[in-house]
Amino acid sequence: MQVERKAKMIIDKDYRIGDIDPRLYGSFVEHLGRAVYEGIYEPDHPEADEQGFRRDVLALVKECKVPIVRYPGGNFVSGYNWEDGVGPVELRPKRLDLAWRSLEPNQIGTNEFVSWAKLVNAEVNMAVNLGTRGIDAARNLVEYCNHPSGSYWSDLRISHGYKDPHRIKTWCLGNEMDGPWQIGQKTAVEYGRIASEAAKVMKWVDPSIELVACGSSSRQMPTFPEWEATVLDHTYEQVDYLSLHQYYGNPENDTPSFLAKSMEMDAFIQSVIATCDYIKAKNRSKKQMYLSFDEWNVWYHSREADAKQQPWSIAPPLLEDIYTHEDAVLVGSMLITLLRNADRVKIACLAQLVNVIAPIMTEKGGGAWRQTIYYPFMHTSVYGRGTALRPIISSPKYDSKEITDVPYLDAMAVYNEAEEALTIFAVNRGLEASLLLTCEARQFGDYQLVEHLVLESEDLKARNTAANPTAVTPYSTGGAVMADGVITAQLPKCSWNMIRLAKRRERE
Ligand code: AHR
Repeated sequence: MQVERKAKMIIDKDYRIGDIDPRLYGSFVEHLGRAVYEGIYEPDHPEADEQGFRRDVLALVKECKVPIVRYPGGNFVSGYNWEDGVGPVELRPKRLDLAWRSLEPNQIGTNEFVSWAKLVNAEVNMAVNLGTRGIDAARNLVEYCNHPSGSYWSDLRISHGYKDPHRIKTWCLGNEMDGPWQIGQKTAVEYGRIASEAAKVMKWVDPSIELVACGSSSRQMPTFPEWEATVLDHTYEQVDYLSLHQYYGNPENDTPSFLAKSMEMDAFIQSVIATCDYIKAKNRSKKQMYLSFDEWNVWYHSREADAKQQPWSIAPPLLEDIYTHEDAVLVGSMLITLLRNADRVKIACLAQLVNVIAPIMTEKGGGAWRQTIYYPFMHTSVYGRGTALRPIISSPKYDSKEITDVPYLDAMAVYNEAEEALTIFAVNRGLEASLLLTCEARQFGDYQLVEHLVLESEDLKARNTAANPTAVTPYSTGGAVMADGVITAQLPKCSWNMIRLAKRRERE
């Protein structure tokens, strides 16, 4: 017998969480695996432009309206000499990248990446190396990128063919410095000190920049949240954001628990906010610390294959997770979680963008296609701009092996006042039955339904591959209706939904 499940939701313009910073829909390109080489850059590819960038990849990235891309790492940055990646390409050294046991040819570096980011209308979120290097290399890189002219490093940039400064606004102070896998791992005190000094001088070079200090590498780190407290104690007045990283997997094939992982993500965010506010109170500071969730995704499918990879090749196929339908549903729920915390999480980066745990995959010399997780990312990025509204939700719940009291319905609403549009993003976590959603949005009585887009699949493990790139694709006839400010929609089992409403326009 089919169980009938019902959930209710109320949306009110006054239940404002906050303005959504567009950078919430950021992503990440690391010199890792085939992200850069064979991902964004493949000069021999039939689709390559005059700079060697793949046009098919550019088109897919643009479709997602990615506003900011973190670069060049990740673990890679902790051993990176940025000077290796600028100047005449033929003179650039090949280096051993110890983070990913690969060979880095340095054919793409800071300037080329900035040029690529311009083509997709994205800002660059630049990370500096605080592993093997420190404040000197960091301040020089800021000068190279952002100082107009008339100094050694800015004139060097100009001599490399980049007259205008790159004006990079967002900078990461290293990467995952608490992790034993990190080149130049540090204690919280060691990192807090170097981050605070680097921040100070980087802002002396360019006071307009914003800085992200490293939080713990994940909520599971034994030093979490002590690391955050200590690092902020040293850096609170110098930095603008604290980073969070988190990946989830389903290795035990326990999908009910897997789909509830976004609740853990929410708890993680709450703990980091609490820690930031504790240091704010302790330091009698007036400043609000914001969060940068600059690595998040599902990551587990490729771990076994990666362990077998031979070292020291250029662009080896690493971290090539092929995502399933259920992965897309969790990614959707993680995006809803980010939106729910839009008052404090101002930057977030889906890790990563192309080939490496990515929404976009490519074949060398072949095609580029959208993985399942591409869809919730694209939908929220394109339509989730404006004000995050907190919906009042009443939903039946379930207990999974790992997490109890899991609401079947996970949802958020975004109101775009300028465009007179309201968009609901919703996940039905239930694996057995659809969920009948009744949503009161009475202040939007003069709105009408534009589309109800659904991503569902009979097979939770269905994937998009080179041979079948559209196995999991959304359809736009989900069947939601709106009457008198009440929306009614059936959310299929284990589905991602986007319900778009817009103000009814009088016929002219
Ligand atoms: O995104 C892949 C890797 O995950 C990053 O290099 C690192 O920061 C994290 O551990």
